[in-house]
Amino acid sequence: IQSSFDYFLKIIIIGDTGVGKSNFLYRFIHGKFNRLYQPTIGIDYKSKIIVLPKTKQNIKLQFWDTAGEERYRSLNKLYFQRVQGIILMYDITNRESFEGLGEWTKLIYDNLDSIPIVLVGNKLDDADENRIVTIEEGQSFADENNLIFFEASALNGKNVNNSIYCLCEKIISHLNKPLSFNVNVSLISNDIIDNKKNKKFCC
Ligand code: GTP
Ligand code: MG
Repeated sequence: IQSSFDYFLKIIIIGDTGVGKSNFLYRFIHGKFNRLYQPTIGIDYKSKIIVLPKTKQNIKLQFWDTAGEERYRSLNKLYFQRVQGIILMYDITNRESFEGLGEWTKLIYDNLDSIPIVLVGNKLDDADENRIVTIEEGQSFADENNLIFFEASALNGKNVNNSIYCLCEKIISHLNKPLSFNVNVSLISNDIIDNKKNKKFCC
C-alpha cells in the first residue's frame, strides 16, 4: 500500500467512566482541555498524523475512544479487533477506577494476544489535593502486568504526549521484529503481531 506515512496504528483507550479518556485524547489531538463532561456513548473515533520525535517516522494514529460505563462493557471487546496498542486508564483521585483495572486487564487477556499497553494514571494535576492512589501502587500494577506506566494530566498536558509516543515506539518495535533485517521497510499494517512481552525498553 502506498501512503505518505510510515505506519498506520490503531490504538484503543479503555478504563472506567469519568477517568478522563476522551479529554486525554482531546488534549493529545488539539492541545487543549475541554472541561465539559459528556460521557462517551458507544464509541468515538479520532485520528491524528504525528511525527515521532525520536525516530522522525510519520505515523497515522487511529484512536478508538470507548465508553467506560458498565452498560457498554460487552461492546468494547468488539472493538479490540486489529488493535495494535492499548491505553488503559484510571484516575489517581478515584480508588474504584484503580480497582477496576483487574477487570479491564481480564477483558484484554481474554480477547487479545499480548500487545503493548500503557497504563495511565490520569488527573495528576489534582494530586496534591485529592490523590488516593499512590504512584507506587500504579507502578507495581504496571510491573506485575508488564505495562508501560505514566501518571499524566489531560488538564495540564503533563505526560500526555510522552505516554502515547512511548506506546507507539513499543508497537513499532514489535511490528519490526520479524523484519529487523531491513530497517528501511515501510509498513502499513493492521495485523496483530504475536508480540513477545518486552519490558519498558522505550522509557
Ligand atoms: P466515559 O466517556 O464515560 O468513559 O468517560 P471518560 O473517561 O471519557 O472521561 P472524560 O474525558 O469525559 O472526563 C471525565 C471528567 O473528568 C470531566 O469532568 C473532565 O473535565 C475531568 N477530567 C478529565 N481529565 C482530567 C484531568 O486530567 N484532570 C482533572 N482535574 N480533571 C479531568
Ligand atoms: Mg469518554
